[in-house]
Amino acid sequence: MSLNEAKKIAAYRAVDEWVKTKTAVGIGSGSTVVFAVDRLAERVKQEGLEVVCVPTSFQARQLIVENNLVLGDLDRYPKLDVAIDGADEVDKDMVLIKGGGGCLLQEKIVASCAEKLIIIADYTKNSQKLGEQYKKGVPIEVVPMAYVPIREKIQQLFGGELKLRMAVAKAGPCVTDNGNFILDWHFPQSADFNWTEVNRDLLLIPGVVETGLFVNMATKAYFGMADGSVKTQE
Ligand code: A5P
Repeated sequence: MSLNEAKKIAAYRAVDEWVKTKTAVGIGSGSTVVFAVDRLAERVKQEGLEVVCVPTSFQARQLIVENNLVLGDLDRYPKLDVAIDGADEVDKDMVLIKGGGGCLLQEKIVASCAEKLIIIADYTKNSQKLGEQYKKGVPIEVVPMAYVPIREKIQQLFGGELKLRMAVAKAGPCVTDNGNFILDWHFPQSADFNWTEVNRDLLLIPGVVETGLFVNMATKAYFGMADGSVKTQE
């Protein structure tokens, strides 16, 4: 089974199990969420499902609009029933790395407003220990003027290496949907971090806007497996 097929079976299962009619749903970002939105649109047509979709990025907003789903926002829907999102990695304790696509800030805000955060992913995202599978580090969204001092402070506090994420189709840094930069923190793999503490300490550094560490947030993860089955983790 291809990676895309694995993403699709995970997304379809999660949408079928978690999205009910007359609910508000957070829509995550990335390539796996595309399949979740496809399934939602299908269910709206087939079952007359009534859902309001709150996006976590420009990409998610476009997906909602292109699929003729009802677009909402946190002003009108500050409490969501569920948020469905992808992840770059999920460890054995349900700690996530997110933000490979640069959307971590809005993803974390929307997830924090949802009663349940449901993760959909292919089998390559499932690991025992963070960094085992995802090699691009923990994304940290920072205010542009502070990226150099923040880089130094994190290096001193925890070690590892921080790389300013660069844009793909333009010269210069990657700018998030919120006008910020991203530092990808390649943390020392040998360290046995307490991610709750690391996340808290990172957020205390002035200029750090948000981290891609999602600790104690996800309710359940669905992994599409190579053999066509869907593995779940809670
Ligand atoms: C976006 O910033 C990310 O948090 C995505 O949710 C994550 O990178 C997963 O993306 P894929 O579904 O493309 O793997």
